[in-house]
Amino acid sequence: MKLAQRVARIQPSATLAINAKARRLKKQGVHIVNFGVGEPDFDTPLHIQEAAINAIKDGQTRYTPVSGIDELKDAICYVIRNDYGLSYARENVLVSCGGKHAIYNLLQALLDPGDEVIIPSPYWVSYPEMVSLIGGKPVTVPCAEEYGFKLHPDALESAITPRTRLLIINSPSNPTGVHYSRSELAGLAEVLLKHEDVAVITDDIYYRILFDGHEWCNLAMVSEALRDRTFIINGVSKTYCMTGWRIGYVVGNADVIRAATKIQSQSTSNPTSISQWASVAAMRGDQSVVQEMVKVFEQRCRYVLECLSKLPGVTCPTPAGAFYVFPNFSHYYEKKVGDRSIKNSLDLADYLMEIAHVAVVPGSAFGEDHCLRLSYALSMEDLQEGFARVARALENLS
Ligand SMILES: Cc1ncc(COP(=O)(O)O)c(C=O)c1O
Repeated sequence: MKLAQRVARIQPSATLAINAKARRLKKQGVHIVNFGVGEPDFDTPLHIQEAAINAIKDGQTRYTPVSGIDELKDAICYVIRNDYGLSYARENVLVSCGGKHAIYNLLQALLDPGDEVIIPSPYWVSYPEMVSLIGGKPVTVPCAEEYGFKLHPDALESAITPRTRLLIINSPSNPTGVHYSRSELAGLAEVLLKHEDVAVITDDIYYRILFDGHEWCNLAMVSEALRDRTFIINGVSKTYCMTGWRIGYVVGNADVIRAATKIQSQSTSNPTSISQWASVAAMRGDQSVVQEMVKVFEQRCRYVLECLSKLPGVTCPTPAGAFYVFPNFSHYYEKKVGDRSIKNSLDLADYLMEIAHVAVVPGSAFGEDHCLRLSYALSMEDLQEGFARVARALENLS
């Protein structure tokens, strides 16, 4: 059957493909250490589970308003006031089926064909694909490892053209874990203030997974003048271990939120009613579970950096949060084992999967072929075993 041209414009998600491959090998009885995962390895906290069960029992099982229930919008405004120090009202909020869906609706509401979106690279795999799907033009801007893979104001200024409509900033970042400081954001804000037509998406999905010594901030918090053209993306997936529940949101200018809501109304309608009630419990309830999770991630991050430092030729910026590292493995490119030669991140990822039974995501999926992305949302035992396998597999390359 003939497919629409837009299908050919996009690639399937590389991270989902790696996980599918890892699952296939696992089914064949192979013990895979999966550094490819993009979600916390903890269960959704009990009080959130119970809120969902109660929602079902209370009959909260029908359509809700397209943009989400008022109780959840209020909880979102409460969280943003508490954690960001910013005031928004219900009309500024659209609740969607995950942060990914919220970004997609927003892009649909903002982009015309050919509109350019600046995406600092390395980037989360879905940004360029979503922009392309909609007919926009992703403009990826390479960011140097020496500058922590972050966008420099000069690079931003050079990338802006009369067609630029949006900049997407993701901090803490997937895949690098790095976070923009207040002064780094102020540098970007200074450039953006000169270009009134450029709006901003700040993807804050990992904002609570931020390690000691790092202050939470984003562009809307740094620049009052940018606030009305900055859209905050967030959700419960990563903070509350609720990836399967599919609740995310966008907060920003009310006219744009109405436009994005119109798009949602003719596609998915409301996100799941039960998940919305569970999300209210997550945001209003005990936050100590989040703090405990972050402590565990921070310990694991330290351990992972130590393991990486023992691998000859590997360099890695120190993450400030999230649960990923993005080390540079290009030292091993052009090396061989038998008649197998490693030329790029995909070859290295394939080699590690097939020979070491370790799943990692090739950096090329994130726009940076020198690196691999490793998630540490794994038990300490798996991390130890995984790094022992990686070290052995690398030793065999020459
Ligand atoms: C940077 C980033 N943004 C957004 C999302 C979307 O998360 P969800 O759709 O589960 O809310 C993810 C998930 O992996 C992500 O890594």
